Amino acid sequence: MKSIETKYMEERESLLRSLHNLDRRSFFKLSAAAGAAAVTHGVAFPHSFQPVRIGNGVESFRIAYISDSHLYERKLNDRFVKALLRAVDDVNRMDPQPDFVLFGGDLAQLGAPAELDLGAQILKNLRAPVRMMVGEHDWYLDLGEKWKGLFGAERYTFDHKGVHFVVLNSVVEEDFWTARKLTPAQRMGTVAGLDNGLQSPFTVGEEQRAWLANDLAKIDPNTPLVVFSHSPLYHYYKRWNFWTDDAEQVQAILEKFKKCTVVHGHTHQLLTHRIGDIHFHGLLSTAWPWPYAPEGLPELTVQMNRPDPFNPNDGCGQGEVHVDVDGLVDKVYRLWNRNPVTVSSEYMKSFGKAQKPGRANTPSY
Ligand SMILES: [Fe+2]
Ligand SMILES: [Fe+2]
Repeated sequence: MKSIETKYMEERESLLRSLHNLDRRSFFKLSAAAGAAAVTHGVAFPHSFQPVRIGNGVESFRIAYISDSHLYERKLNDRFVKALLRAVDDVNRMDPQPDFVLFGGDLAQLGAPAELDLGAQILKNLRAPVRMMVGEHDWYLDLGEKWKGLFGAERYTFDHKGVHFVVLNSVVEEDFWTARKLTPAQRMGTVAGLDNGLQSPFTVGEEQRAWLANDLAKIDPNTPLVVFSHSPLYHYYKRWNFWTDDAEQVQAILEKFKKCTVVHGHTHQLLTHRIGDIHFHGLLSTAWPWPYAPEGLPELTVQMNRPDPFNPNDGCGQGEVHVDVDGLVDKVYRLWNRNPVTVSSEYMKSFGKAQKPGRANTPSY
């Protein structure tokens, strides 16, 4: 007898085989199959979220996130394509829908136009509006030309329901390629090898810091602020580029805000940190989980246990950012086939003393 998991995978495989183009009709067939699979797995999606507004002008709302899909062209590898489709399915089933979906960067694996086009095509199937952020894997083949053509500016700000949002390009590197006479593909390959020690560390960079400071100078420090960056805006582990070199200078620009949250991709894991009043949360990847670095792990992190090595989707997922009326954030990690893990603002406010997040309900490997 076949397991539910096997049947689910087979059903998906046959749909994918018949899917020559990701047109909307085929996509919704796929979504329906995934919906049925989620019900079979007993993975429930909350229907209880009700937006609330109080006197300070901030309204509660939800943002969904999807991040780090690392797509190759489908003919080379469709596993990550299927994973991104699964995340899109999950977000499309949220009821009510999120106000928008943040894509956290590393849409592509090697910045190739075909990879970015494929990603854009898949993300078009999201029902909610999408906000894009760039990752290093999207950028270093053509220094952002294709990405910007598809998605627009790589840094921008906007206001939503009383919260000021900033999206940064935190993967700015110094030119390590010209002197070494690297081709664009060699440059991209070097950046994609995170721990090869051949590239410069990521930065936000002087020019972008000036832009950020200028934007935030106009914002009242009591306004809730949510910043999206691809790499963590603190020093975690330099050898793997889990790091933004000028993080402390960026923190100095953010520190006047009393309700400040930074949400980052790149590290593909549950990751929680607090520096002063800045709360930091990582995003899950749909492609693979990274292990935790051997040192420098922020104390507030509730570690995800080691993923099942025989299940390529384990340790992956997508999730949500819930902004409350006080402007603080509950961060939800929707790990696939596990219970979601919520890191609440109470946990952050109490420096980990209150509301310790539960662990994901699966065995350790
Ligand atoms: Fe990534
Ligand atoms: Fe990355």
